[in-house]
Amino acid sequence: MRMSNVAELFTPLSGGGLKLPNRIVMAPMTRSRATPDGVPSPLAAEYYASRASAGLLITEGTQPSFGGQGYARTPGIHTPEQGAAWRVIADAVHAAGGRIFLQLMHVGRIAAAANRQVPDTPVAPSALRAPGQVWTDQAGLQDYAEPRSLALDEIPAVIAEYAAATRLAIASGLDGVELHAASGYLPHQFLSTNVNQRTDAYGGDAPGRIRFVVETLEAMVAAAGSGARVGIKISPEMAFNGIEDQDLATYPALVNALNPLGLAYLHVMRASPTTDYVALLRPLWKGVLIAGAGFTAESGAQAIASGQADAIAYGKLYIANPDLKERFEQGLPLSEADGSTFYTPGAKGYTDYPRA
Ligand SMILES: Cc1cc2nc3c(=O)[nH]c(=O)nc-3n(C[C@H](O)[C@H](O)[C@H](O)COP(=O)(O)O)c2cc1C
Repeated sequence: MRMSNVAELFTPLSGGGLKLPNRIVMAPMTRSRATPDGVPSPLAAEYYASRASAGLLITEGTQPSFGGQGYARTPGIHTPEQGAAWRVIADAVHAAGGRIFLQLMHVGRIAAAANRQVPDTPVAPSALRAPGQVWTDQAGLQDYAEPRSLALDEIPAVIAEYAAATRLAIASGLDGVELHAASGYLPHQFLSTNVNQRTDAYGGDAPGRIRFVVETLEAMVAAAGSGARVGIKISPEMAFNGIEDQDLATYPALVNALNPLGLAYLHVMRASPTTDYVALLRPLWKGVLIAGAGFTAESGAQAIASGQADAIAYGKLYIANPDLKERFEQGLPLSEADGSTFYTPGAKGYTDYPRA
């Protein structure tokens, strides 16, 4: 047993409505194994339940509506069949002693037509096509679609989709939902200075660019019945999916606006090459802070010990080590994830990583 230098990971966490037996969080990860109808894979219950010793599991990004899909084989949470499949997953995780939040991911402009089940044009804060290409099963790599700008009077309906998805997630037995406001998807598009070129109340300065995220979270909290069932993930200044955002005022303004909502947690993915946003936001945020990206057991325990974070999200390590908590606890060697099976259908690289 090698507990000593990583012991902080194993102290229980109570706050924001969360009660976690340890501070190890499975980061949300798209695995592209859902059915063509956006129903999560039948293997997903086994995949998540076998990782249930984590303090908290956060699911793969899940679209709140047909219009929110942009990638091949991602699941949704907006039809009865999807809700029923998520219930099986939540029940399996709970039976294994775990807790699970579902991540709501609306991709906005990060979409290819072939990956969508609806013919309408992807929406974004502004009509700016994302650079780069995305995989489609039908035609291989494709350019991102040209999005259209959301009209001011269409925004409430998009927010209502998040609220309806939250209601279905909670009704399906999930312990909570996380708004994916990172990685260049729709909420991050609103937050960023380059992709959001709106001149109405949802654009311009920081108070305008944060408005979509704040209103969406307010609607999700109302739908969930409590802020304690709603979290948010951000990745400030992440240069991914065409995001450029160097306005240092954006995220402090966002955090200040979110403090009154009583959220379960703020999840910060370390992504900025220039600014330590965990350190910047920590003194401003009154709730539980989960930090993620590139952490080891040691550096995670250190971040908790120093007061930088309350819990640590682990991504790639959780793909390859279903028993990551036990391996950390016992100082066992870690397996490495195989990137070639991150997004491929089936059990290979999904449910076949052995326990130590
Ligand atoms: C295969 C894969 C899929 C991912 N999909 C998502 C996703 O759906 N939503 C999300 O917020 N982050 C996603 N991420 C990012 C992870 O949540 C995490 O922030 C990132 O992997 C950095 O943490 P790590 O260094 O511990 O892997 C994904 C990462 C990987 C490797």
